[in-house]
Amino acid sequence: MQSLYTNGLEHLYDAMYQTFINYEEEYLFYSTLLNKYKKNQVLEVGSGTGNLAKHFIVNNYNYNGLDYSEDMVALAKKKLACNRFVQGDMRHFKLNQTTQSVIITGRTSSYLLSNEDVHNALQAIYNNLENQGILCFDFIDANRFIKSIKGGVKMVHHATFKQKTYYRESLLTPTTSNNFMFYWNAKYYEINADSRKLITQDDSEVRAFTKNEWELFLYLNNFELMECIDKPSYMFDTYVVVAGKMA
Ligand SMILES: C[S@@+](CC[C@H](N)C(=O)[O-])C[C@H]1O[C@@H](n2cnc3c(N)ncnc32)[C@H](O)[C@@H]1O
Repeated sequence: MQSLYTNGLEHLYDAMYQTFINYEEEYLFYSTLLNKYKKNQVLEVGSGTGNLAKHFIVNNYNYNGLDYSEDMVALAKKKLACNRFVQGDMRHFKLNQTTQSVIITGRTSSYLLSNEDVHNALQAIYNNLENQGILCFDFIDANRFIKSIKGGVKMVHHATFKQKTYYRESLLTPTTSNNFMFYWNAKYYEINADSRKLITQDDSEVRAFTKNEWELFLYLNNFELMECIDKPSYMFDTYVVVAGKMA
């Protein structure tokens, strides 16, 4: 997992991603989908620092969040002054009661590095969904994104939050190991008047998927694929899938 999610760096994540992602738009997008399928109860898997949660809670959804990182969970709880977040692993979790829907946003699916991880996550989600429940998640589209970084590509992203300016230099390189993966070597800086200070360096390997892979993963784990929506993000080509739990 990326080091940006722990040891105090969760604050940096929180600041930068509020610039990268328009969480109000994210909320409108996912709440429109949930309304379409008449779901008012939602578990967000990979809930991060609660930036999307805030909108669901203000709009009276029965919302709960689950995240692997204790530090992300603690920050989300503190920011939103509530107890709706728990630490857990999307590949193995058990809620006290089933939920009407699960959402996984912000390319959190890219941490399902092996096929076994994907099957485990889909099984865990299936077991925690009520009958007729739905799963909505986004994934990085390998067909477009891996092509666009062939040979290695540098990207720079700026973020200004609470009068502080940051930037991130990323080097993205497809790997030749397993699946459609890429190395993401990122350096995070804080910028002052005439200098820049390196805050941290974060090297990780993450996964993109093809639509066909997800069709088969979902079928094998008893989900019906209902929608696949093209939804580009600030950095990646992504699709959002809506899948229903089959009996
Ligand atoms: C890119 S962030 C997205 C967070 C949030 N959805 C957002 O849009 O701000 C990915 C999140 O997934 C979490 N994560 C990574 N692996 C996980 C796992 N196996 N189970 C649950 N959460 C995980 C990380 O801790 C992190 O908070």
